[in-house]
Amino acid sequence: MRLAHLSDLHLYPHGALRPADLLGRRVVGALNLFLMRTRSHSNDVARLAVAKALELGVDHVIVTGDVTNLALEPEFALAADVLAPLGGPDFLSMIPGNHDYYTPAAIAARRFEHWFGRFVWAAGEGDYPAWKDFPGVRLILACSATKPPPLCAHGWIGVPQADRIATLAREARDQGLFPVLAVHHYMHVQHSVREITGFLLDKGRLRDVVRTSGVGLVLHGHDHHPHEMTVPGADGCPVPVIGCGSTTLFAPDRGRRGRFNVYDIADGRVTVQRWQVADQGDRFEPLPG
Ligand SMILES: [Fe+2]
Ligand SMILES: [Fe+2]
Repeated sequence: MRLAHLSDLHLYPHGALRPADLLGRRVVGALNLFLMRTRSHSNDVARLAVAKALELGVDHVIVTGDVTNLALEPEFALAADVLAPLGGPDFLSMIPGNHDYYTPAAIAARRFEHWFGRFVWAAGEGDYPAWKDFPGVRLILACSATKPPPLCAHGWIGVPQADRIATLAREARDQGLFPVLAVHHYMHVQHSVREITGFLLDKGRLRDVVRTSGVGLVLHGHDHHPHEMTVPGADGCPVPVIGCGSTTLFAPDRGRRGRFNVYDIADGRVTVQRWQVADQGDRFEPLPG
């Protein structure tokens, strides 16, 4: 199976934010958005990545959260438009990030699920985690987005979801499927203030799930820089944990360029191709190695 991994698109259509939206958490988010994100993320680069993934002949695409900035309806609409060339849920899977759950109102309205639930669950809506089976691979779709404390972006898995992830992974192994877990938040320790304000609160629980259940690959977002590490797996073998970085970054003067990955998964082995947007911002190029 060939799987493309995009993340943290942070799409914003010009003019989407209205004065009435500047309430509560969105005041800080809006400042962050206009001071930093709109200078760093490119909607055009998101469309380039989608086109490149299609060109590469992938079997499926996973987007690991944060398609929006402030969970605004126009942002979700833009995300739907950008991802539309990928087609239906047989070809695209999505999980929410903390920015897609930006306000209590967005969470209560299940705004992400309204727009993209069909890319999570096969039919209707259910609980997280969801899963999809492909030849040789089971893709497990978890939700770490939650209502965080003010000014924070923490994630949370919880006991019921962790138990279900473990069960799904063990079932997959019993059926000869390679379990791939997609989750927005990461398990590593970041070096910046982000480690204080935006980490996965129960990352130890998720590490335990990976260590005991047979999950063979973990894909995440949230860290806009690419990050790769391994954690101990159920059979003693190291399990790759890979964040592709934000796909839509385009600020070459500051060394920020969008990334996405392609994984070839066969016979329990994972091969990674890494793609980065070119200096001109007009195409994605493969990175060596
Ligand atoms: Fe993000
Ligand atoms: Fe995030």
